[in-house]
Parts: sequence; C-alpha cells; structure tokens
Amino acid sequence: MRVLSGIQPTGRFHWGNYFGAIRQYIQLQHEDEAFYFIANLHALTTIRDPQQLSQLTLDAALDLLALGLDPDAATLFVQSDIPQISELTWILMTGTPLGLLERCHAFKEKKSKGISADAGLFTYPVLMAADILGYDSNCVPVGQDQVQHIEVARDIARSFNHHYGDCFVQPEARILDESAKVPGTDGEKMSKSYDNIIPVFEEEKALQKQIMRISTDSRAMEDAKQPETDHLYQLFCLFGKSAQQQEMAAIYRRGGFGYGDIKKQLAQAAEGYFGPARERREKLTLDPDFVQDILAAGAAKARLKAAEVLDRVQHATGLVR
Ligand code: ADP
Ligand code: TRP
Repeated sequence: MRVLSGIQPTGRFHWGNYFGAIRQYIQLQHEDEAFYFIANLHALTTIRDPQQLSQLTLDAALDLLALGLDPDAATLFVQSDIPQISELTWILMTGTPLGLLERCHAFKEKKSKGISADAGLFTYPVLMAADILGYDSNCVPVGQDQVQHIEVARDIARSFNHHYGDCFVQPEARILDESAKVPGTDGEKMSKSYDNIIPVFEEEKALQKQIMRISTDSRAMEDAKQPETDHLYQLFCLFGKSAQQQEMAAIYRRGGFGYGDIKKQLAQAAEGYFGPARERREKLTLDPDFVQDILAAGAAKARLKAAEVLDRVQHATGLVR
C-alpha cells in the first residue's frame, strides 16, 4: 500500500502544520510505503518571487528531515522534479468537467470575493489528482480542507477508468486527526494567513517572545479557571505528557497563578521538544549537498513510478503509436 501526500512550501512551518500534519506523516512512514513531496508547482499559484520559492522549497526539505522524516523509510522529493506529472495533468484535464472545478472551494472563494483567479488556481485540483493518481497512491493523508480535492481525484479516476479501461488506482483520503487543531497566539486556528503563528524552527529567544504574545483573559490571579477552553493550556498540552497535563489542569482549577509562569513553562516544554530538531537542522544546513542528494534520490524513485503510470495512460489513450 502506498501512502502519498504533498505539502506546499508557502511559508515556514508552524506548530499547526507540525501537530496537524507533519507529525502524522512521520508516523505513517514506518507503517506503509510513503511518498512525500514538496508541492512547489502548487505554490506557484501564490508565490511569484523566484528566490523566495526556491528558498522555501529547500527550507521545507530541511524542516521535514530535521523533524524526523527518514529518507530511508520514506521517499522525499520536489513536485516539479517529476515532469511526468505535468503531462499527466494535461491528459486528465481533457476529461475533467468544468463544473467539477467550479465547485472547488479555493476557486469559489476567490470568485465570490470578486478576485480574478488564474487558470492555475482553477485547475489546481487536476494537478493534485495527477500527483495522486500518477504514483498509484492508495491512501492520501490530508487535513479536512483538502478532502474535496481527493474527491475530485477519485471522480477523475473513475471516469477515466470507465472510458479507457482500468488504468488508475482509486485513492482513499485519510483525514488527519482533527482534534489536533492547534490554536494560534490569538486563540483562533493557527494559520499563516492570520498572523498568529509560532514557527517550529524559532531561536530560543524569539520563541519566548512569540509565546509571550499569546493572548490571555484578564481574570485575577486568584480566580479559578477552566483549562479546557483556554488556548494557552491547549498549547501546553501539545508538549506535556498526560501527568504534566493533569498537573497543569489542576493549577488552572485552583487559581492563584500568573499566566506569565504558564508561558515560561510552555516555552521550556517547546524548547525541549523542538530544540533537538533545531540542532539537527543546523547540522543539515552545513551540508547542502547531502540534502540535494536526498531530494535527487527521492525524485529518481518517484520518476520511475510516475513513468510507469504515464506509460500505461499513454497507451490507453492512443498517444503511443
Ligand atoms: P496555513 O493555514 O498556515 O496556510 P496550510 O494550509 O499550508 O497552513 O497547512 C498545511 C496542513 O497543515 C493542513 O492541511 C493541515 O493539515 C495542517 N494545519 C495547518 N494549520 C493547522 C492548525 N492550526 N491545526 C492543525 N493542523 C493544521
Ligand atoms: N494541495 C495540498 C495542500 O495545500 C498540497 C498537495 C498538492 C497535496 N498535491 C497533493 C496533498 C497531493 C495530497 C496529495 O495542502
């Protein structure tokens, strides 16, 4: 069984990305054959600065490796290194009804706001379908926001198979654990669009500063507080073991503490958790060839699989004479 997922290099990874997605990808790499890629072609729909895009792509690779993505267990590559996927996208596009894409939320949202969308954004789900179908993927772990796109890939596969005979494997979405929804410094969902993120790879001092930004209510120190509804407590729980969580919950219910102390404890816990990954990342940056070699080896393996699927499709459609 092949697990596949892509992650866009549109910003530095934050705690939400890690606990909501990356950590789960890393866990899955030991269960099944895993293909993970950095979706730089998708990122082109939002990032038009060439230096920024290539830097963010490399950063994403470094981040994933430092966080525990094991290139011996999973295949890590950059989306655009597999040209077969772009050809497959065109072939799939010829059989994709416009209505299917018009219903997709990224495009619909832009249109409803009166923002003009380009063909890249409109056809984004077809590239995503090619990413998935092009490697005979069985299982696609994604957040809830991407489930619609997996449905599109399934629709495209179904109608292609119906017309040309069985060519594609029918992929299944595996929805990432929603309870892992991470709040940002303002208590809303952590997202790079809301200026409320805490980046995974932050220097210790900068990390403390970001943590001090976390909003808190203005209740007096003596008051007892409900831990479950407090986003500072929720952030603490990302790191603490269950005994530490219970201890913290008891402190909340007792009252008589300052939020500053809790923030200090959170900073310590986060540093203990991500500090070793930051050190690994620093080592990796000293050897850029090592990372490039991993991406090249990953791309070679992915290309082999994509070439096999594309060949099947070229024969099925009559493109091969
Ligand atoms: P952002 O919201 O910052 O733009 P992305 O949409 O690029 O983040 O996120 C990539 C993946 O990371 C998502 O599909 C989702 O699974 C996960 N993710 C992002 N933010 C959070 C969050 N606050 N809590 C849990 N998971 C998240
Ligand atoms: N669109 C996905 C996102 O924004 C990234 C992605 C691109 C992807 N191609 C994919 C995810 C294929 C899963 C499978 O998060």
